[in-house]
Amino acid sequence: MAGSKRPDTSNVLTGETKKKLDAVFQPIALTDDVIKRIMAVYQEQMRLANSTDEKVRKTSDHLMMNTFIRELLDGTEQGVYLGLDLGGTNFRVVVVKFTDGVADTKTKYYRLPDAVLSGLSAGVFDFIAESIEDCLKLEGLSDSKEKIPLGFTFSFPSIQISLKKSTLVTWTKTFKCPDGVGEDSVAMLEAAIERKCPGLPVDIVVVMSDTVSTLMAGNYLDKRCRIGLILGTGSNAAFVENIEEIEKWTGDYQDPKHVIVNVECGSTGDNGCLDFCRSKYEKELDQHSNHPGSFTFEKSVAGLYLGELARLVLVQLVQEGVLFGGKQVDLVERRWALTASHITAIESDEGQTTTRTKKVLEEFGLDSIATDKDVAIVREVCDFMSRRAAHTIAAAMAVLVNHVGRPEVTIAIDGSLYERHPKYHDSMMEIFEKYSPNTKVTLILAKDGSGQGGAFAAVSALKQNAKGIRCA
Ligand code: GLC
Repeated sequence: MAGSKRPDTSNVLTGETKKKLDAVFQPIALTDDVIKRIMAVYQEQMRLANSTDEKVRKTSDHLMMNTFIRELLDGTEQGVYLGLDLGGTNFRVVVVKFTDGVADTKTKYYRLPDAVLSGLSAGVFDFIAESIEDCLKLEGLSDSKEKIPLGFTFSFPSIQISLKKSTLVTWTKTFKCPDGVGEDSVAMLEAAIERKCPGLPVDIVVVMSDTVSTLMAGNYLDKRCRIGLILGTGSNAAFVENIEEIEKWTGDYQDPKHVIVNVECGSTGDNGCLDFCRSKYEKELDQHSNHPGSFTFEKSVAGLYLGELARLVLVQLVQEGVLFGGKQVDLVERRWALTASHITAIESDEGQTTTRTKKVLEEFGLDSIATDKDVAIVREVCDFMSRRAAHTIAAAMAVLVNHVGRPEVTIAIDGSLYERHPKYHDSMMEIFEKYSPNTKVTLILAKDGSGQGGAFAAVSALKQNAKGIRCA
């Protein structure tokens, strides 16, 4: 079986140190049994969230949200569309120009200031409105006579009410606005446009999660793509579901007989269903996170958390005297200081090479005290925790792959963690080979797909409106 390459620390670590590391890893290792239980739990949450009975649905911590999007691209698209992508610290405006189904895509990046992330939600939407205006100016589109159809990727748990109406359930990740919950994200954006740049030539025709837009972007690249996955700051997935399979479906049954479902599964485990495999590190991280007691699953797999999970293991090893001679180093004090970028750098050291790991340690002022053994231990911890996270998300995706039930399924993935981590892909594949044996699974990077796919979904929305397709 192909697998992700392990760091080679055999020249440095003695049997005794290995034993000490094993004592830390073994209690939180994802054995076959644990993986199978994660899969069973995930599947059960999907089943509950699908029920026609609202009381049953509420016992699930998946939303399994009907996105109202049924049309995928068919290669005949023409014209200009816009996509917006709000979800992480970078906000993107994407301009897609279609010629006979071929997309020419331009992306502009805008960084949301920290003050905006925790200020009133109007500040977030004002920032977006002004960024759209800026992008249209740069692209020479601000005087467009026709309103440009726009797909808004808004990546926070939301209740989808129609193609262009969805109400926010809660802010997540790095967003801590005190208001906005229960409000319609499209209405908030339209109000901001009216406030900040009235007359902007845009028409918001659809709002969706980044998982959905990533799926759209992936399906443009590869028609076997039926699943969109985000592995960035946060994590979540969407898939193409046959409408006959959706118990709670209330729309029509005309073609296309499928719809994209946003699983909204970062919160899996909030109801306790994953307690059997939550480590003490995950519990501690949660207590110090922006949104304690929520988004349990996401905190085990996504980029915002991976560094801190690894740091907490390192802290324990320092406290046990195994690492850095037990010295009270800076790293022990500084929560969140170790990030996914550091882990990615450390994991990029191959074989017995340690250059990048040493550079990270230097950043933390540890270069003068770190012995070769310490460097090797840091590598082992980052490797173990990365693999554990990758296996966890892949177990969930294996459930979706098996549910889709096709001989070949491509999963389109967007997000910096997947894009930059050198081993996530191979670690995830280890799980598919074992637990989705009847499907040839391919993972593709849909870089910036969450923005581009927003524009693609605008195409779908217009097509559906023209056909009178009813999704509820
Ligand atoms: C969080 C959001 C979800 C989004 C994911 C990835 O989990 O709740 O809607 O898809 O992050 O950005």
